[in-house]
Amino acid sequence: MAKNKELNYCKLYNEDCIQYLKKIKSNSIDLIFADPPYNLSDKKFLTVKSGKVAKCDKGEWDKINDIESFNIDWLTQCKRILKESGTIWISGTLHNHPSIGQCLKNLGFWIINDIIWFKRNAPPLLSRNRLVPSTELIWLASRNKKYYFDYDHAKIFNSGKQLRNLWDINAQRHKTEHPTEKPEILLERILEIGSKKNSIILDPFMGSGTTGVVAKRYERNFIGIEIDKKYFKIAKKRIEMTNVDLQLKIQSA
Ligand SMILES: C[S@@+](CC[C@H](N)C(=O)[O-])C[C@H]1O[C@@H](n2cnc3c(N)ncnc32)[C@H](O)[C@@H]1O
Repeated sequence: MAKNKELNYCKLYNEDCIQYLKKIKSNSIDLIFADPPYNLSDKKFLTVKSGKVAKCDKGEWDKINDIESFNIDWLTQCKRILKESGTIWISGTLHNHPSIGQCLKNLGFWIINDIIWFKRNAPPLLSRNRLVPSTELIWLASRNKKYYFDYDHAKIFNSGKQLRNLWDINAQRHKTEHPTEKPEILLERILEIGSKKNSIILDPFMGSGTTGVVAKRYERNFIGIEIDKKYFKIAKKRIEMTNVDLQLKIQSA
């Protein structure tokens, strides 16, 4: 049988997404996955890493002065570039989830779901004054009520029954040194439900490149933006090393 030789592309940019998003054509993107800064790194939280007590400091990129204006700025651009049928999936924690939700409402997005990603194996908590954080929250939104959503495919992730908005997915051993690398299995689910082969996927906060790896594997086009030089290099290498039987054109700026 002839192999699919259709040329997908993968464009990677080492830039501030708020600047780069302005250069993208309106109404051109099928699916956006965004994992923006959580704004929790200046709160002096303690966590456990490899069995040792460690500061919950993700890095300078996670320290945002005015999180509301930052969220409005990048979400405004995302709304402009999303196709009428497109969806945006935004992952976060309680530190930025309310701000993102409010911005989505203020910008007139249609909020479809809030998905709770339950990490059964989340690290234990050292302080005894709260419950152990074991979830991340994913907003799913669109520009209007006519969006692409593969309901039947979603059932595959629940043994043929309706898929609920509680996703039980273990955190996985990281493949890179990025502190907040997402499990590929999470992105596989999102891309399979929210896009088709050859769709255009965008990740404005690419980090270690998880979305790009999965987009490439599932024969989607991909645009990834990452501000940090070190993480950009890690993502580029990781995406290049992903083997698929397709010729991909990697562009980087
Ligand atoms: C939560 S991490 C994303 C992790 C990613 N989902 C993964 O699986 O590796 C957020 C990333 O956004 C980057 N970032 C922060 N502000 C940015 C901006 N204004 N433009 C582009 N990237 C930014 C950070 O350097 C960081 O790598």
